[in-house]
Amino acid sequence: MPQNPSDAPGRSCPRDYRYGATALAGPATLQTDALWIAGGLYGNTFALRELESMLAAERGEAALVFNGDFHWFDVDDGAFANIEQGVARHAATRGNVETEIAQPHDGAGCGCAYPDWVDDEDVSRSNRMLERLKVTAQRAPGAAARLAALPMFRIAEVGGQRIAIVHGDAESLAGWGFSQEALATASGRCAALAWFGASGASVFASSHTCLPVLQAFEGARAIVNNGAAGMPNFAATTFGLATRIGVAPSRHALYRARAGALHIEAIAIDYDAAAWRESFLAQCPPGSDAHTSYWRRIESGPGYPLASALRAA
Ligand SMILES: [Fe+2]
Repeated sequence: MPQNPSDAPGRSCPRDYRYGATALAGPATLQTDALWIAGGLYGNTFALRELESMLAAERGEAALVFNGDFHWFDVDDGAFANIEQGVARHAATRGNVETEIAQPHDGAGCGCAYPDWVDDEDVSRSNRMLERLKVTAQRAPGAAARLAALPMFRIAEVGGQRIAIVHGDAESLAGWGFSQEALATASGRCAALAWFGASGASVFASSHTCLPVLQAFEGARAIVNNGAAGMPNFAATTFGLATRIGVAPSRHALYRARAGALHIEAIAIDYDAAAWRESFLAQCPPGSDAHTSYWRRIESGPGYPLASALRAA
């Protein structure tokens, strides 16, 4: 029987990925003055090191949350263990990658819930990458249980305002509602407005969809997606990106917006790009699925201009 394309592995969204925006209305479990959020670390141990050094340079109270997909290219046991240990030093939520290596869903593939603008070959390669990473994860003592125990979202409070930290969107772990593509449409921004209402959040911080966007909304609200902490995000660049939400601004934002008293900033993670390329090639050599899908981006960034990421209300 032909498979419904939307049910194919890597295209579907497992039912227990769904929490719904009202689930984000609960109390904050993290309070800080400078909240760093890094989604899509993708096994880049050099980006992890750089992030931790920027966090350590904060003068006031600060916290870091890894909002999922911190594993991906780290199929080497040592790299996987380094990412596990690094993430454990901070707060974390799980992404579809961690969920699928910890508690695989039959037929979910990589759990990415890829929309139709991502081609079938890319989806198939992602599914095979997940299978390969799962073998590494199964060798890592206690990893599956640790990853399975992570929450799907966290609510933080910065300067008295609520921040909903998700991996995908306000409805689902692998939702694409906070992608730059969805937020470029009136219907996408309209859906987001309803999610602010249901959750009581001033800011949604997400990742998952691989490209960054900072969309301001009327009423001191914003959606910020950091794209990838562990890969370049803009054309002709080699740095990753993190989100910083603070009661005071930092000195190094690439771009920023306000949501009431909060400063929402995109911060470059200027990791050692040459060392990361070498580490990537050792784990994902030419001919591997990861190399075919990601090498061009790791070398020189996606075809997405930096000027497209910041969007006024
Ligand atoms: Fe993801």
